[in-house]
Amino acid sequence: MSRLIVISNRVAVPKARGAAGAQGGLAGALQAALKRNKGLWFGWSGKEVENPSAEPDVQTSDGVTTATIDLKHQDIEEYYSGYANSTLWPLFHYRIDLTEYERETGIGYERVNDLFANTAAPLIEPDDLVWVHDYHFVPLGERLRRQGIKNRLGFFLHTPWPPTRLLVSLPYHERLVRSLLEYDVVGFQCDEWLESFLHYCRKELGADVNEDTGEIRLDDRKVLARSYPIGIDYAHFTGSGDSGEARQAEQRVISSTRRRIAMIGVDRLDYSKGLPEKMDGFARFLERNPGRNQDIVFIQIAPPSREGLESYQQIREELEQKTGQINGAHSRIDLVPIRYVNEGHSMAELYGIYRASKIGFVTPLRDGMNLVAKEYVAAQDPEDPGVLILSQFAGAAQQLDEAVMVNPHSPDDIARAIRKALDMPLDERKRRWEKLHASVRDDDIAKWTQNFVTDLENAG
Ligand code: F6P
Repeated sequence: MSRLIVISNRVAVPKARGAAGAQGGLAGALQAALKRNKGLWFGWSGKEVENPSAEPDVQTSDGVTTATIDLKHQDIEEYYSGYANSTLWPLFHYRIDLTEYERETGIGYERVNDLFANTAAPLIEPDDLVWVHDYHFVPLGERLRRQGIKNRLGFFLHTPWPPTRLLVSLPYHERLVRSLLEYDVVGFQCDEWLESFLHYCRKELGADVNEDTGEIRLDDRKVLARSYPIGIDYAHFTGSGDSGEARQAEQRVISSTRRRIAMIGVDRLDYSKGLPEKMDGFARFLERNPGRNQDIVFIQIAPPSREGLESYQQIREELEQKTGQINGAHSRIDLVPIRYVNEGHSMAELYGIYRASKIGFVTPLRDGMNLVAKEYVAAQDPEDPGVLILSQFAGAAQQLDEAVMVNPHSPDDIARAIRKALDMPLDERKRRWEKLHASVRDDDIAKWTQNFVTDLENAG
């Protein structure tokens, strides 16, 4: 078996690992994959230093070897905060209103991709499979090729891929997408993102695209583009449910909500997650259903994210205001409708919190996949499962079609969905959950890795 080299911006050490959904999916998912393939995980240490060493820091812990480099202030500003998170992230989530186009950050992004390629190249042996992750590293494959790397190179995008009409608003879009064609396999979370990518290649690059097989030919390059829906580490996650930590968290929710149903949302505090819209939908439910504030408590866990960026500070302020307004309007001396929690939770705690909550509330405006939805399903009691409310705009909606689907832009739709979930009879809950559960259990992280790695092995 070939060794696997994973390259991603974040590298999580095993100790720091939380639930996959809560930390954005990527870190937990990759750790499981690497353990199985005895590989190396290369990326940013997360640290800013004045004079970074050219040598990566290599460590082995719990069966996973990591190699990380530090970055200097300017690199973090231009590559991470700038081009990756102020240009590509909003654009890939269809938010051209928030997308900043600064040539300087674009140059910084390419420079840091060069830096990663120069540092990674000496670590790569001839037989290794190289698997690059996410929007931080779109041009990395091309930069590795320039370093003389002939290995099979794969790329997986964890976010959505935008429609061509949005993508062409990015200056130098062609240069960015052409660099992707230096990989042998390019993977997406679901068919919708894949179709947009194939459309771009055909329309803008004039590539020869086979829509059925995902084979793209351009000049001397042959690339396979496919969708590989990511899953959760089902066994590990459900295993954590046996712990005292999980049971305690479950009890804390049950005892503090008493006879009311807990509705749970867990999202990074990101504008793509539709948090204000979720609050509006919940407020609409309370307005339209007087007295039903007695029946439900909405617990929203939202750990802050990318706090240095203004768009993230704004969304945090907006959410604090909305929560205050809704609680002001609908609280009674013995009840508060929304519990808004900023702190993060461990995987076992989340398992317990999900299990105690009879409604899972997942309503991103746009999301590559969304693993919170899958974790929520995995944590349910088969004899009394909860109901998943899911945005039709999450990649997960293509697989989890037995969820109560909502348009997160419509407060009325959300309000109707909450009412439906609250009143859903046990037999319907069970029927829906069984199908959801089978999909979450069977299409797990191991299957995702295996599907991608097999295609990469066969490529070229
Ligand atoms: O899932 C998308 C993603 O950007 C991951 O790559 C990342 O681990 C997560 O969100 C959290 O974001 P950040 O690494 O910017 O804190």
